[in-house]
Amino acid sequence: MKLPAQVKLVDVGPRDGLQNEKQPVSAEVKIGLVHRLQDAGLKEIEVTSFVSPKWVPQMADNAEVMHGIVRKPGVLYSVLTPNMKGFEAAIAAPRDEWPDEIVVFGAASEAFSQKNINCSIAESIERFAPVVEAARAKGIAVRGAMSCTVGCPYEGEIAPAKVGYLAQLMKGIGVQRVDVADTIGVGTPRKVQAAMEATLAHFDVDAISGHFHDTYGQALVNTLAALELGVWNFQSSSAGLGGCPYAKGATGNVATEDVVYMLHGMGIATGIDLDKLIDAGVYISEALGREPNSRASKAIRTKRAG
Ligand code: HMG
Ligand code: MG
Repeated sequence: MKLPAQVKLVDVGPRDGLQNEKQPVSAEVKIGLVHRLQDAGLKEIEVTSFVSPKWVPQMADNAEVMHGIVRKPGVLYSVLTPNMKGFEAAIAAPRDEWPDEIVVFGAASEAFSQKNINCSIAESIERFAPVVEAARAKGIAVRGAMSCTVGCPYEGEIAPAKVGYLAQLMKGIGVQRVDVADTIGVGTPRKVQAAMEATLAHFDVDAISGHFHDTYGQALVNTLAALELGVWNFQSSSAGLGGCPYAKGATGNVATEDVVYMLHGMGIATGIDLDKLIDAGVYISEALGREPNSRASKAIRTKRAG
């Protein structure tokens, strides 16, 4: 099967990567990470989230981070907004500090929806609808993250029909593109393809992205499985940071470095400079006092050290 010739990666490290960190990370360091990612050639960066600081304290500096980043032309900056309160906070700043895209985030699992955003799937869609409408009226793009599309920490395996149902609801309220997320990294290629296919019934392939956590070491093969279906948008975190505070035991997103290494090795263009990306991962890992969680980064740095 012919694979896509190019892939667009969204680095979600500043948001998904850091939201789960217990140690405080300064706004300055977060801004430094965004700058390094855009210099490495990332064209989309998920910067922060406008959620309750009581639920996710690490993202409490959302406005400060959005204010501090010096934007690079051609780069799309997105933020999570679960409700109108979050959306209003995201656009409280002057227009040039608004996000280019907001993300509403729902789940294919009822139990995860309750734990993560404190409401049912149906209620979440009711909350998202005015957010989507307000964003689109202001010319802000809207993405919908769909969590637990293959497995849930509370409900176990998730049937593809539940993913299709959520995708249909998202489409119905005007969400323009969706992320098929394996929040806890339990998916394997055929299951991920089934979740993708259920989504493809409602969204064009160009409007679907893969978001794979690497808990069981399956994220790269799952990426390949999605590529086989023609999916060419993926989310990943530099240095493999991350995890969701409401998905216990789940580790970070697949490392952007590892995805880029795989894609470049397959002749698939990303526009990303792997060396600069590795340095971005080292920067944030040093700030956190640990090694980057990326095999490609480790191998290349070992080689560099000669
Ligand atoms: P709630 O408690 O149901 O909301 O939270 P509420 O409307 O009843 O309000 C309760 C309090 O929260 C009030 O404050 C509100 O003002 C405040 P109080 O009167 O008690 O002082 N509040 C807010 N504050 C700031 N920003 C807001 C906001 N909304 C209400 N936007 C809510 C509902 C969704 C806000 C809450 O459950 C929450 O913040 N959850 C955090 C969810 C989160 O960030 N999860 C991690 C991101 S999702 C993820 O990681 C998965 C993903 O990566 C894909 C994947 O891998 O699956 C995207
Ligand atoms: Mg995630």
